[in-house]
This record gives sequence, C-alpha cells and structure tokens, in this order.
Amino acid sequence: MKKILVLNGPNINMLGVREKTIYGKLDYPALCAYIQKAAAALNVEVEVAQSNVEGELVTLIQQAYGKFDGIVINPAAFTHYSIAVLDALKAVALPTIEVHLSNIHAREEFRHKSVTAAACLGQICGLGFKGYALALKALAEEM
Ligand code: DQA
Repeated sequence: MKKILVLNGPNINMLGVREKTIYGKLDYPALCAYIQKAAAALNVEVEVAQSNVEGELVTLIQQAYGKFDGIVINPAAFTHYSIAVLDALKAVALPTIEVHLSNIHAREEFRHKSVTAAACLGQICGLGFKGYALALKALAEEM
C-alpha cells in the first residue's frame, strides 16, 4: 500500500479558532479525520503531522525520504518565504502537492507568491478540506 505524508505548517492546528470566515469552523482534529477517511477511500496509507516550527517541518520532510511515496503539504505561512522548506522538498524529490485551504491568490498580495510550489507537481488552493482529498487522489494516481 502506498504511503503518503501529509504535513501542515504553522497555525493549521488553530483551525476552528483562527479567522473562521477564511478557514471555516471545523477544527484541526476534524481535518485529520477527513484526511484519514479520504486516504482509506483511496486505499492509501497516510501519516498526518503538523508543526509550527520551520526546522521541524524540514526534518519531517527529510525523514520522509525512503519511507513515503509522496507528500501533501500545506506549508501555511512558510509557503511565502521558506527557502528551507523548498530545499528540503527538492532534496527528497518525492512527488509532492501543495495545498491551501484558502484561495491565496484572492487574498493579500504577499500570499500570492509561493516559493515552495516550485518543488511540487502542483498546487490546490481555495477548496478547503477537499483540497487535501484531491491532492491525495492525484498522488495515488501518480504513483
Ligand atoms: C494557508 C494560507 C497561508 O497564506 C496562511 O499563512 C496559512 C494558511 C491556507 O491553508 O489557506 O496559514 O496556507
């Protein structure tokens, strides 16, 4: 069975509390449950992790090498400036899809730019939780 690592960056653990008009009312455990259910339906194994710390995300990406077949990542704010996350994704060179709950292109200008997407097969944004299921489906078909 294919194994996919789902990584979430800073403040994603605050879902259900943070800016509900943008991110919705559902909390982080609800997102994790949604991802597990979507993975089961696709017959893939997932591990879901979240960190508010850039270096921890880099380590989690590095540790995915040789262990996972693909990565779904919502780097959150790190999307917009983390060369370290970009380099880690490039280093492991696993098929990766970037996901954003909100439509980053319809928000403040500083959110329009993703430095991490350059290391990804593609980016899905603005579809809420569904973006994760679509990313898993795309990776499951890719692998
Ligand atoms: C986000 C969008 C980012 O701009 C923001 O910093 C986040 C969440 C999203 O999922 O829509 O924390 O990645």
